[in-house]
Amino acid sequence: MNVFEKTENFVMKTYNRFSVNFVKGEGCWLYDDKDKKYLDMLAGIAVCNLGHCHPTVSDAICEQARKLIHVSNLFHIETQAELAELICKNSFGEKVFFCNSGAEANEGAIKLARRYGTEKNPEKYEIVAFRQSFHGRTMAAVSITGQGKYNEGFGPMLRGVKFAEFNNLDSVKEVVSDKTAGIIVEPIQGEGGIVPADKDFLLGLRKIADEIDAILIFDEVQTGIGRTGKLFAYQHYGIEPDVMTLAKALGNGVPIGAIVAKGKAADVLKPGLHASTFGGNPLATRAGIEVIKIVSDEEFLKEVERKGKYLAKKLEELKGEFSEIINFVRGKGLMLGAVCKIPCSDIVKLALEKGLIINCTAGNVLRFVPPLVITEDEIDYGIKILKEVLKEHAS
Ligand SMILES: Cc1ncc(COP(=O)(O)O)c(C=O)c1O
Repeated sequence: MNVFEKTENFVMKTYNRFSVNFVKGEGCWLYDDKDKKYLDMLAGIAVCNLGHCHPTVSDAICEQARKLIHVSNLFHIETQAELAELICKNSFGEKVFFCNSGAEANEGAIKLARRYGTEKNPEKYEIVAFRQSFHGRTMAAVSITGQGKYNEGFGPMLRGVKFAEFNNLDSVKEVVSDKTAGIIVEPIQGEGGIVPADKDFLLGLRKIADEIDAILIFDEVQTGIGRTGKLFAYQHYGIEPDVMTLAKALGNGVPIGAIVAKGKAADVLKPGLHASTFGGNPLATRAGIEVIKIVSDEEFLKEVERKGKYLAKKLEELKGEFSEIINFVRGKGLMLGAVCKIPCSDIVKLALEKGLIINCTAGNVLRFVPPLVITEDEIDYGIKILKEVLKEHAS
């Protein structure tokens, strides 16, 4: 049996997969089992921000794997403590909890907010989330995800979740109250179609959260780790959340998630209130240390911003040429979406056949989240393929 047959026979069919089997990766390039090369402008969905198998990260993981992979959180873990310090020194954070994925980080953040709220008032447990948001696939995460398709058919969702309109403060004011424990928002809605939050909206959320003494949570699972041209997206806005959740690119492919908190949120989770067996283990946190060290460099982040502008300009040019397909381009840094006038899954498929990996989110948005180490030449290469695809699609 080959990999396709084995997957068909033995792996739960939770994904519609393309019939491609990647066996090797280097930088922005992936190679399949026939040695065909592909330019990866998706980076495992905003995970491999340093490119595939970045030598510094790979060497560190190999070294760590030979030294110590896992010990339980009953003991002190040097790499965990060091990564927590690095994250705090490079952000608003004062304390970090480590877990293994984005959904899990959001679960923990909700628990944190509810614990904070209910210690003041047993009725203060409501969470305000936003329509078109995406926060992951666990029960609490789908409960706060504002897209029906993710929670239909899974029985009752978490009680006490209220949804408001993204980028609409009036709609937030309608649902918040003294019972609100937390407000969770993505600075740029990723799965919702690369929709950036307005600055005034986030400033307004900060003000509302302060007024009602709620925990403001930024889900930076997709926007974090340099993706938008700052180490964390909140740094564009001149405000700080109380809690930020991270995952995806924090380990450049090694599973890791984190809850970062400050002030009133920093010491809510006391011994016994929250835990994770694998959370913050030596292997994952060693990867995280190398990632943060590289990405937090100011010059590196400036390059992300510059290359983001370059890619946006190239996409704008494509929009000019194929205005019957592309409506507009939006996003920040190297997290960009080309909003199409048509469903775009066929475009993604054709691009893949020609050796370019992108994806389609929200049905009609072509998503570009390449490794942050992508060069202008590589961007040109990707745009050339996309142009061919759009030409074929238009004719
Ligand atoms: C903003 C956001 N939050 C949470 C998640 C869930 O992360 P994970 O798949 O690691 O659970 C995602 C994944 O796409 C995401 O984009």
